[in-house]
Amino acid sequence: MTSPHARRPIVAANWKMNTGPDDGAELARSVAAQDLPFAQVDVVLCPPATGVAAVAAAVRSTPVAVGAQHVFWEASGAYTGEISVPMLAGLATYAIAGHSERRQLFGETDLDVQRKTLAILSGGLTPIVAVGESLDQRDAGETLGVLRSQVRRVFEALTPAETAACVIAYEPVWAIGTGRNATPEQAQEAIGWIRDIVAATHGQPAANQIRVQYGGSVSPENCEELLSREGIDGALVGGASLDAAKFAAIVRAAAP
Ligand code: 13P
Repeated sequence: MTSPHARRPIVAANWKMNTGPDDGAELARSVAAQDLPFAQVDVVLCPPATGVAAVAAAVRSTPVAVGAQHVFWEASGAYTGEISVPMLAGLATYAIAGHSERRQLFGETDLDVQRKTLAILSGGLTPIVAVGESLDQRDAGETLGVLRSQVRRVFEALTPAETAACVIAYEPVWAIGTGRNATPEQAQEAIGWIRDIVAATHGQPAANQIRVQYGGSVSPENCEELLSREGIDGALVGGASLDAAKFAAIVRAAAP
C-alpha cells in the first residue's frame, strides 16, 4: 500500500468524562442510525469506562466500533481504578493512548504512552496515539521538535508493522476544547511532519500506511476544509461528538 489514497479515513468520538451507560448507549444508537458512509470511513465511539459495555451492546450489530479512552499497560493486578486491555475483550477494538489531557492533568509521559501502545497492540486492539504541541511551544517555533520527540519516544519500541497498524491523532493542545481549530494549513503541515518522522524512524511503507487524524475543535463548520486536505486521514472529535447529528456531519466530511 503506497498510495496515500489507500488509507481508510477514521473518525473517532472522544466523549471524555461525559455520559454514563444509559445516555451513552442512547447516543451510540443515534450515531449508528445516522446516514453514514460506513463503507468508506471507520467510525469509532470512545465512551468513558463505565459506558463501554453498554455502548458496545448498543452498536453490536452495526458497523460502529468502540474504543476505550484510557488503559493501563499491565493485564491485571493491584492497580486501583485502572482498566486493562484484556478487560476490554469483546467490547472495544480501539484504545486512545497519550491524550494531552492525560499527559497534562495526570502526568503521563511518552514512556507511559509507549507502554500503553504496546499493551493495546498486544491485546489485538488498535491504538490511537495522541501527540501535539502546546501554544507556547508553537509560538516558540518548537512544533516540529515536540512532535519528533513524542513520536520517536512512543514508537521506538514498535516494529514498522506495529507502527503502521496504529492511528496517530495530531491534537495541538491549544486547539482542544477552545473553539480555535488549527487551520487546514497548520494541520496538514504538522501531519506531514509526523509522517516524515515515521518515515525516518520506521521506513516509508509504514509512513504511507499509518493513519494520522486531526483533533482539536473539529466541528460541522470546519470539518470539510480540514478533512478534504491530502494526508489528513480523519478526525478525533471531542465536544461535537456529543451530538449525533454534528458527529455524523464530520464523519460524512471524511469520506473520500
Ligand atoms: P474538542 O473537539 O472538544 O476540541 O476535543 C478534541 C479532543 O481532545 C479529542 O480527543
